[in-house]
This record gives sequence, C-alpha cells and structure tokens, in this order.
Amino acid sequence: MDGMNHSVVSEFVFLGLTNSWDIQLLLFVFSSMFYMASMMGNSLTVLTVAFDPHLHSPMYFLLANLSFIDLDFSSVICPKMIYDLVRKHKVISFRGCIIQIFFIHIIGGVEMVLLIAMAFDRYVAICKPLHYLTIMNPRMCISFLVAAWMIGLTHSVVQLAFVVNLPFCGPNVLDSFYCDLPRLIKLACTDTYPLELMVTANSGFMSVGFFSILIISYIIIILTVQKHSSTGFSKALSTLSAHITVVVLFFGPLIFFYTWPSPTHVDKFLAFFDAVLTPFLNPFIYTLRNQEMKAAMKRVCRWLVGHWKIS
Ligand SMILES: *[C@@H]1O[C@H](CO)[C@@H](O)[C@H](O)[C@H]1NC(C)=O
Repeated sequence: MDGMNHSVVSEFVFLGLTNSWDIQLLLFVFSSMFYMASMMGNSLTVLTVAFDPHLHSPMYFLLANLSFIDLDFSSVICPKMIYDLVRKHKVISFRGCIIQIFFIHIIGGVEMVLLIAMAFDRYVAICKPLHYLTIMNPRMCISFLVAAWMIGLTHSVVQLAFVVNLPFCGPNVLDSFYCDLPRLIKLACTDTYPLELMVTANSGFMSVGFFSILIISYIIIILTVQKHSSTGFSKALSTLSAHITVVVLFFGPLIFFYTWPSPTHVDKFLAFFDAVLTPFLNPFIYTLRNQEMKAAMKRVCRWLVGHWKIS
C-alpha cells in the first residue's frame, strides 16, 4: 500500500521567487541573460583548454572541468526556472523533482571536490614548484576526477534513498523555484524531523567540512608564500584571491541554506544566486586575471569566427 500513498501527489507546485509579475519579468530577462552568458563563458573555457596545447596542464584541466560542471549545474535549474518565470502555474512532476535533486547533489558534490583539487594544485605549484609536474601527474588529476564523481554520486544517492520512498499525501506547494530538498521533506506526511536532520548532517556537514578544508589550505598557502618570498607574494595572492572568491561565492549560500534551522525567505534568493550568478562568475573570475587564458581564448574565438565564415 506504500505505493498508493505515493500516487496521491504526482506533481509539486512552485511558488517561485516572488508574486509580482513585474519582478518576474525582470528576473526572466536578467536570468536569461546570465544563463546564456554563463553557457558561453563556460563552453569557451572548455573549448579553449581542449584545443590549445599551451593550456594542457593540470591547472587548466581542472579549470575546464569546473566549467563543465558549471554548465551542467546551471542547466539542471535555470531553463526550467526561466520558463516558469513567465508561467502562472509552475509545476514539476514527482519524477522531475527527484531527477532535479539527484543531479543538483551530484554536481554540487563534484564541484566541492574539484575546488579542493584546485586548491591542492595551487598548493603544489606555489609551495613545491620544483616537484609540480611529478606530483600533479596525469594519474593524480584523473584520481581527483574519479574521487569527485564518486563522492558526488554517493552523496546524492544517500540523500535520495531516503526521499524516494517518502509518502507525499497532502500539500504539494513548494515555496521555491526548484525542488529544494529541505523544503520538499517538510511536505511529506510522516515525521520528517529525522530526515531533516539527515539532510542537514549530510549536505550541511559536507559543505561546512569542505569549506573549512579549503579555507585552511589557502591560509597555509598564503603563510608559506609569505615566509619564502616577497617578490612572488603579490602574484600568488592575486591567483589565490580569485580562488578564494569562487570558494566563498559557492559555499556561502550553501552553508546558510543547509545549516539554518528553518527555511527563510532569504535562502530562496541565495539559491537563485548560486544557480544563476556563480556559474556565470567562475569563468570570469579565473580567466580575466589570467593573461595566458585570455590570449588563448582570443585565438579560439578568431579560429571559430574564421571557421564559420568559410563554411
Ligand atoms: C578534466 O580533466 C581531465 C584530466 O585532467 C582531462 O583529461 C579532461 O579533458 C578534463 N575535462 C574537461 C571537460 O575539460
């Protein structure tokens, strides 16, 4: 009879970000622009690293992987959200909801581990420059990637295992613009407290844990650089500040989201920020300060434009 309970709620209704039609139109324009810009920026990063032999180094491979993940991340949430912004009745099927949660958590997990790999890469490059290529060898890079996907997948499956069989029989209105797990669980008609605790423990612990590891590694790198050289310090600091900015932008909203006891209105907007702005900002933060990357992007753009003209 468990299955019967399920079928009572076959879809969820999103309340969206706001009731105001004007603000929704504004958000529609705003998020379409940012979504397109982020697709272009991140695809260009992936293409540039793939095609430019100058950029075949661990740092750029990791950067391209981050861009690839950002492409996926915004695509799980943005198209549906943008479409919903101009719809009165915003609904998602039960299955759609589960699929969204599944991908959001895999991708979130992968992104966290990739950021750690990037921090480690910078640590080796800055603190052990002579051993950089022996430590960050192709096998190491692949191991980081495999670990990232394994951790992302495990994290996501563990959360979903609890959610898939929850009985949803009553209210089906989510005060959100995507299937957000903490809010979804509150709708189940059972004692949801243990589950909420599980989600906070799983997602919250993971984000706080990884965030702390990252911040500590960056502090160690900065202290090491400061001790050893004064000339390299400002250059290293500029690279590191780009990394730290991305880390804070990504984790800030997440930590608030999963460790705050009950959903608030603010976290909807933080989630919007994480879904729309962070994937857009990443390529800019990393590439705009990087001469090598900028030059390579120009070459790829010129090549692409030339190619289109011929064909
Ligand atoms: C991710 O990194 C691996 C290994 O460093 C590399 O072979 C691969 O091309 C990268 N993926 C993307 C999408 O750039």
